[in-house]
Amino acid sequence: MSPSTPIYASFRSIGAYVPEKILSNSDLEAMVDTTDEWITKRTGIKERRIAAKDEYTSDMGAKASEKAIERAEIDKSEIDLVICATVTPDYFNMPSTACIISDKLGIRNVQAFDISAACSGFVYLLSIAKAFIESGMKKNVLIIGAEKFSSIVDYTDRGTCILFGDGAGAAVISATTDKEEAIIDIHASADGSYADFLVTPAPGSIHPVSQAVIDEGLNFVQMKGNETFKLAVKTLTKDVVEILKENHIKAEDVPHFIPHQANYRIIKAVGDALKMTEDQVVLTVGKYGNTSAASIPMAINDIYESGRLKHGDLMLLDTFGGGLTWASALLPFAGKTKS
Ligand code: UT7
Repeated sequence: MSPSTPIYASFRSIGAYVPEKILSNSDLEAMVDTTDEWITKRTGIKERRIAAKDEYTSDMGAKASEKAIERAEIDKSEIDLVICATVTPDYFNMPSTACIISDKLGIRNVQAFDISAACSGFVYLLSIAKAFIESGMKKNVLIIGAEKFSSIVDYTDRGTCILFGDGAGAAVISATTDKEEAIIDIHASADGSYADFLVTPAPGSIHPVSQAVIDEGLNFVQMKGNETFKLAVKTLTKDVVEILKENHIKAEDVPHFIPHQANYRIIKAVGDALKMTEDQVVLTVGKYGNTSAASIPMAINDIYESGRLKHGDLMLLDTFGGGLTWASALLPFAGKTKS
């Protein structure tokens, strides 16, 4: 390689982990004032996975990472950066979940840190990995979206408990000189004026842990569901239309549209706006619910494992979440097709 050869970032592999326990809509009917019919009609969700009491965000993240590293066909010693996106870390302050995952994988003495961008976390990670690789600072970046969302859900609040689930997804992003394999483009943005749409008030510097915090349930996620829904449809649609236009790619030429799995109605509205067919739109919300930062890598893993995702296939990612944050990405799958 000559010193002037450009280096690109490529999406080399995918892995995911889902906990065993299933929480179905009929289970929720026994817990809050809701029905399977309401949840199915309004969200498309039928069930979600719940981690065991002694199964933590880092455990799920490490299991997803093991698969991603194996499928990247590299040794774990070749990973030179580990980044985890989560809003349900093992510890709210320190150490980072990325440090704990690195330790569980036996990866030591490499840079490791967490980011907080809620459901947009995985696509945010992709942009960070791309920047590190294309600047020449790193060669193989392990990115992880992992959530034990059940640890911040109030199972007496029917507005949120029907939506969220647990799980993890991970990918290896590697340096390449082959432009055909390069991540094409990433848009990532935020608007903090909508911070109160999706918030977990405690623990934090505003509400350190206290008896009052627990009594008021401030440690649980709070969401302005309907307002978030409307903004999600608008933002997700605008973002994908822009990224496709800027890169001169038509929606009909994208075999895999992989949106954040928050609500079937949101996904359908965005898919319809792009005139996408059912075959193009990846849907896992029915079986996993909303797993926040893990949602997109779990969905990519789903089409990888079913054999739908092939080497070179174009993927369009689109996500939206607390912050508010949103992001989209256009990239080919640079890994091997599953044999
Ligand atoms: O991942 C980050 C981004 N998050 C999202 O994108 C989530 C976006 N929001 C949503 O998915 C939807 O807003 C929800 C599924 C949360 C709610 O659906 P909605 O169609 O926006 O319902 P709504 O909040 O406007 O509530 C309509 C009615 C209300 O009753 P009234 O006031 O009309 O009598 C709610 O109290 O539905 C009621 N309701 C429920 N009924 C049965 C709310 N939750 C439930 C429930 N079961 N679980």
